Amino acid sequence: MRYGEIAALLHGGDYNVEQWLDRPDILAEDIRLMKKAGVNVVTLGVFAWATYEPREGEFHFEWLDKIMNTLWENGIYVILATPSGGKPPWMIQKYPEIMRVDKNRIRHLYGERENHCNSNLLYRQKVLGMDRLLAQRYANHPAVILWHISNEMYGICHCRDCQRNFRIWLKEKYQTIENLNREYWSCFWSHHYNDFQEIESPAPHGETAVHGLALDYQRFYSDLSMDFLQGEIDAVKAYNPHIPVTTNLFHFNCGIDIAKLCRMLAIVSWDSYPRWHCGTNPLSEWETALEAAFGFDFCRSQKGTPFLLMESTPSTTNNAAVCKLKRPGMHMLSAMEAIASGADSVQYFQWRKSRGAYEKFHGAVISHNGSEETRVYRDVCAVGKRLDELSALKGAKTKSSVALLYDWNNMRALEEQKSLRKTNREFDEIIKEHYEALVRNYVSVDIIDQNMEFDGYGLIAAPMLYMFLPGTSEKIRRFVEQGGIFVLTFYSGLVNENDLAFECMPPYSLNDVFGLKVEETDVLMEGEYNTFLYCGERYKATTYFDLAQENGASVLSAYEREFYAGMPAITQNHFGKGWGYYIACRPEQKFLYQFYRNTLRQAGIPAIIDSEYVEDVMVKERVQNGEKYVFLMNFATTARVIQGIELAGYETKILRSQI
Ligand code: GLA
Ligand code: ZN
Repeated sequence: MRYGEIAALLHGGDYNVEQWLDRPDILAEDIRLMKKAGVNVVTLGVFAWATYEPREGEFHFEWLDKIMNTLWENGIYVILATPSGGKPPWMIQKYPEIMRVDKNRIRHLYGERENHCNSNLLYRQKVLGMDRLLAQRYANHPAVILWHISNEMYGICHCRDCQRNFRIWLKEKYQTIENLNREYWSCFWSHHYNDFQEIESPAPHGETAVHGLALDYQRFYSDLSMDFLQGEIDAVKAYNPHIPVTTNLFHFNCGIDIAKLCRMLAIVSWDSYPRWHCGTNPLSEWETALEAAFGFDFCRSQKGTPFLLMESTPSTTNNAAVCKLKRPGMHMLSAMEAIASGADSVQYFQWRKSRGAYEKFHGAVISHNGSEETRVYRDVCAVGKRLDELSALKGAKTKSSVALLYDWNNMRALEEQKSLRKTNREFDEIIKEHYEALVRNYVSVDIIDQNMEFDGYGLIAAPMLYMFLPGTSEKIRRFVEQGGIFVLTFYSGLVNENDLAFECMPPYSLNDVFGLKVEETDVLMEGEYNTFLYCGERYKATTYFDLAQENGASVLSAYEREFYAGMPAITQNHFGKGWGYYIACRPEQKFLYQFYRNTLRQAGIPAIIDSEYVEDVMVKERVQNGEKYVFLMNFATTARVIQGIELAGYETKILRSQI
C-alpha cells in the first residue's frame, strides 16, 4: 500500500511481536483487540535482530512473514523497522570494536541499545546486510507502508576510527591547518596545531577549552550519524523506491542536528512523552502541553507537511521522576493535541506490555492482565473512534505566518561557551517563554533554524541568537527590508559559526537594521530584577540585560534601575519596508504576551480565533481542500469559555468550516 493513498489517520504502535512467538493464542487475541480499538498500523521489528539472526549468518524471517500476512489480511498496515538500534550479544562477543567509546575514552561493554560506533565499518556492513535482507523480502509486501530506520538515534563515539574520520572531516572543512588555527584561536594557551593529526576530540581529561573544536566534533558526529542513516535509507530504497522513510526523533539535544536530519526524510516522526500531571500546577497541564506542542510544531515545520506521532504512552512511562498515570480525559486530549499540531497519527509505545526486563511496567495498550476491560484500553478505543471520524484531516497542513528561530548550532554553542553564567544559561527556557507568548496569542508558530527559508513569514522571533551562521545576517536584513517584522533579543549576533567573536558591537552587521549597538551584557542574580514601562504598564525583567547604544532606533522602553537606568530595554526600528524589534532583557510573560499582541497586529497577522488568551486553552488550526479545522483544547480540569464556546475540563472541540 502506498502511504500517500491511505485515506485515514494512523492509529497503532510498536508491536514487539518477537517477544510472543511461543504464544499463538496471544497473537490471535492481539489482532482481535487491535481491530476493536481501531488500530490500523503497527511498527514491527524495532528490536528484532536477535530473532532474525540468533547466530551469525543464521537467518529466520518465517515468523515475520506470517505475522505480516495476518496483519494485512486484517487491514492493518505495517511500518517496518530496521533493527540497527539494538544488536545481539554474539555480535559484540566477536566484534567488541562495534561498541561506542565514551568521551572518557572507555569502551562500552555489551548491553543496552543504540550504543554502537557510527564509524565502525563492520557494524555498517552487518546493518546494511540485514537491511537488504529485510527489504528484499518485504519492500514489496502490500502491508508495508513506511520504513522506520533504527530507533531514536542519539549519542557520540570517541573511538580511534571516529578520531580518524573527524580529521578527514576537518580537513575538508578547513583545507589547511592554518585556517583551522585561525578559527579556533588556538594560539590561546599555546594550543596551536601543526597538523590535523594532532587534533583529538574533546575529553573531560583532555581538551575542553577550544569551543570551535567542541562544536566541530558535535557537527562531525552529527554528519556521521546522518551518513549512517543515509546508508540504511539507500539499502532499503533499492528494493522499492516508493516506500517512504522515517526515523523516530525524540530530543533536540541528542547529539544530532535533527533539523538537518529531517531534510533527509520523506516523513518526519516524533516520540512524545510529556510528564502529564507532574508540572508545578498539576491541575492545569498548560506547561506540559506547551512542551509537547513545541516538539510537534518543530516536526510540522521541518517540511511544512504533517508528521507522525510515532510513539506516545497510553498511560504512564516507567522512567520519569514520578511515573504518574494519565488522568481520565488526558489520553484523548493529548492525542488531539498532536493531531491539532499537524500529526497524521497517534501511535503508542507499545501495544502489549513485555513481561520482563527494563520496560515491563511501561504503559502499553494491553497490560499483563491481557484484559480489554481496562481504563487504558477503553481510552485507546475512544481515540481510535475519534481518529476515524477525523480521517478527512489526513494530509491537512498548517499555514504559519510566524516563526520562532530555534537553532541547534546556536544551542550547542551557547552551552559550550564560557560567559553569562557558569552553567544553565536557560536558553531553552527563554525560547519557550517567547513560544508561549506567541501560542497564547493564538497564532500558529513554526519552529525553524537559521538554514531554513525566512520567506513567507510575516514575523520571526529569534531569542538569544548568539551565533550567526554564514548568511544569517543577510537573511535577516533582507527579511526586514522586504517588510517583515524581526524580533531579536539580548545576546545575539556575537560570534561566527566557529564561535569566533565578531569584531563589532553586536548584533553583527545589523546595527542599522535594529538601530542599536550592544556594548555590554549584564547578568543578575536569582531574585534580582529590573523594570521598564511599556504602553503605560510597568513590567519586570530578569537574568540578562544588554547595555545598548542607540543607533537610530526608537526606544519604546528604558530600564528603570541599576547603573544602566535610562538605557534601552525595548526598541523598534523602521528599516526598509519592515521593522526590527530588539528586546534587550528577559521580560516576564505578561510583557511578552502584550508585546507580541501588538507586533502581530502591526504585521497584520490574524489570530486563529479572535480572543484574548483564555487560561489553559490552546488553539490550533489545520486546513485542507478549502476547509479549516480549528481545535480548541482545554488543559484545565475545570470548564473554560472561549468566544462563547464552553469547553469542559480536558475537552477538545473541533470547529470545521469553509475557508
Ligand atoms: C523510547 C523508545 C522505545 C521505548 C520508549 C519508552 O521512545 O524508542 O523503544 O523505550 O522510549 O518510553
Ligand atoms: Zn567510534
